[in-house]
Amino acid sequence: MSYGHGGDVGQTGVVSSGSPGAAGPAPSGALRPRPGDVLRLWQRGVQTVVRAARAEPQASVPMLLGAHLGPEAGSWPVVADEWAEYDHVNVQAALDVWLADPARKWELFGLTGVQHGMLSLGDLLVEQPHIWQRLGSVAMVDLPAGPDGEVRTCVRCGLWLFEEAGERWALLLWLNEHGPSGTRVRLEILRADPARASDTLAQLRRLALERNVYRGQVIGFGDEMFGPQGAGLSFLRRPQLAARELVLADGVLELVERQVLGIARQREQLRAAGQHLKRGVLLHGPPGSGKTQTVRYLLGRLKGVTVVVLSGRALYAIREACSIARALAPAAIVVEDVDLIAEDRGEMPGTHPLLFQLLNEMDGLGEDVDVAFILTTNRADLLEPALAARPGRVDQAVNIALPDLDGRRRLLELYRGQLDVQANLDGVLQRTEGVTASFLKELMRRCALAAAEERATNNNKTPLVIEDHHLQAGLDELLDDRHQLTRSIIGGATNATTQ
Ligand SMILES: Nc1ncnc2c1ncn2[C@@H]1O[C@H](COP(=O)(O)OP(=O)(O)OP(=O)(O)O)[C@@H](O)[C@H]1O
Ligand SMILES: [Mg+2]
Repeated sequence: MSYGHGGDVGQTGVVSSGSPGAAGPAPSGALRPRPGDVLRLWQRGVQTVVRAARAEPQASVPMLLGAHLGPEAGSWPVVADEWAEYDHVNVQAALDVWLADPARKWELFGLTGVQHGMLSLGDLLVEQPHIWQRLGSVAMVDLPAGPDGEVRTCVRCGLWLFEEAGERWALLLWLNEHGPSGTRVRLEILRADPARASDTLAQLRRLALERNVYRGQVIGFGDEMFGPQGAGLSFLRRPQLAARELVLADGVLELVERQVLGIARQREQLRAAGQHLKRGVLLHGPPGSGKTQTVRYLLGRLKGVTVVVLSGRALYAIREACSIARALAPAAIVVEDVDLIAEDRGEMPGTHPLLFQLLNEMDGLGEDVDVAFILTTNRADLLEPALAARPGRVDQAVNIALPDLDGRRRLLELYRGQLDVQANLDGVLQRTEGVTASFLKELMRRCALAAAEERATNNNKTPLVIEDHHLQAGLDELLDDRHQLTRSIIGGATNATTQ
C-alpha cells in the first residue's frame, strides 16, 4: 500500500453557483443562507455538473472530481493498493460485493486516454495540459472465473464517486501496464481521512480473498503468460481418473497417497500435535511410465484443494504459485518436469537461480501450511545434488518404474477397452519387457485398427476381436528396427524382443 498526495488544487468555481467553494460573503437578513440551504444548493450543483459530464463527452475529469469532492480534495492524500494481473477478477469480485452495500451511493465513470501512461487520482484533480484522460465509456473486460467457461465482467478503468454517511470520496481502478513487474491492477482512493481509505482497501483485500475465484480450483500458469493477454493464469479441468486407470507396482500408489492425501486428511490432528503439514513428493522414473498419470489421479482425489500447475516456461511463476498456495491453502503445487530448470547443473553448484528459487520458495512457505509440492522428473540424477544439498524440501522420492509382467498384464487389460481379446497374452507379455505403458496402449490401438480393417465395415456392432496374429503383427511392427524412432517416442525398450 502506498501513500501519495492529492496535489494543490484550489479550483473554486468548478461547481455551479451555490457551492460552498464559490459562495461569496453571506448576505444579511432574510437572504442569509441556512446550513440546509447550502447543502441543498451544493447537491444541486453536483447534480448539474454530473449531468453535464454525462451529456458532454469532453467534460473534464477535474471538473467532475471537483464538483463531487469540493475544493479541499486537493489537500487530501491518495492511498493506493496494487494487485497482480491475475487477481483482477478477484478485485472485481470484491468490488461487486462491496458496491452492493446499500449504505453506499456511488456512480461509475469511464476514462479515455488511459493508455497514454501513468494515471493518478492526484493528477486527475487538476486541469493540466499534459493530462490525456477524458471522461468516456467505462472500459470492461470479461475475465475467466471458472473451469467451465464462467466469466466475470471486470472494469479495466473506472472512476467511482462515492457518498457514504455524508462523506464523499473517489476510487480509481486502472491497469498499470508500464510497471517494472508486468501489468498490475491499481486501486487508488482519494478520501479526506487516509486511515479510512486504508481501511477500505484492506476490506477489499479481505473480500477478494474470501471471494477468490481460484479457491478450490485447478489453475495453471501457462506459456501464454508471455503472450499478449499477459494474465498468465488459466483454469484447468480437474482430471478424474479411476484407480484402475493407473497401473503402478504394488505399494507405490499407497506411498504417494499417504504423503499427499493422508496428511491432508489428518490435517487437524497433525496440526494439534505440532506436526508440520507442508510436504514435497518427487515422482521420478523413465518417460511414459506414468508420473503425469499419477499426478492426474492425485488431482482428482484432491477435491476442494486449490492446485497450481506449473510446467515448461511457467516455472518462472513459482513465486506467484507459492503466494497463491499460501493464500488459498489447503493447496498443492505441481511442478512438472522439474529437471527443465536444473539442466545446467554441470556448472557451479548453486548457480541455477530457478531450481534454487523453487527450493527457497518451498522452504519459505510456513511449515504448518497445508501445501503439498508434487514434483515430477525423468532426470532425477540432475536434481539429486541440489536436493541433497538442501534437505527437507522433498520428503518422499517415489520411483515410478516401467511396468513389470503383472503391470503389463493389467495395462493390456486397461487399454483393451471394449476389444474382445481372444489370444494368448503370455507371449506378448514376454516380448514386451521394458516397454512403457504408452507402448502397450499404442499396441492395442494398432491391433484394433488391423481388426477393424479386416472386418466387413457395414453394421457390425459387436466388439472388434483381437486374435494372436493381430498382436504378433502389431508387436513386430512396433519392434521392427525400421520403426526405431516411433519405438523410442512411445517408450519401447531396447531389450524388447523382435521375435
Ligand atoms: N502407470 C500407468 N498406468 C496407466 N497408464 C499409463 C501409465 N503410465 C503411462 N500411462 C499412459 O501413457 C501416457 C503417458 O504417460 P505419462 O504422461 O504419465 O508419462 P510420464 O511418466 O509423465 O512421462 P514423461 O517423463 O515423459 O513426462 C498416459 O497418458 C497414459 O495413457
Ligand atoms: Mg510427464
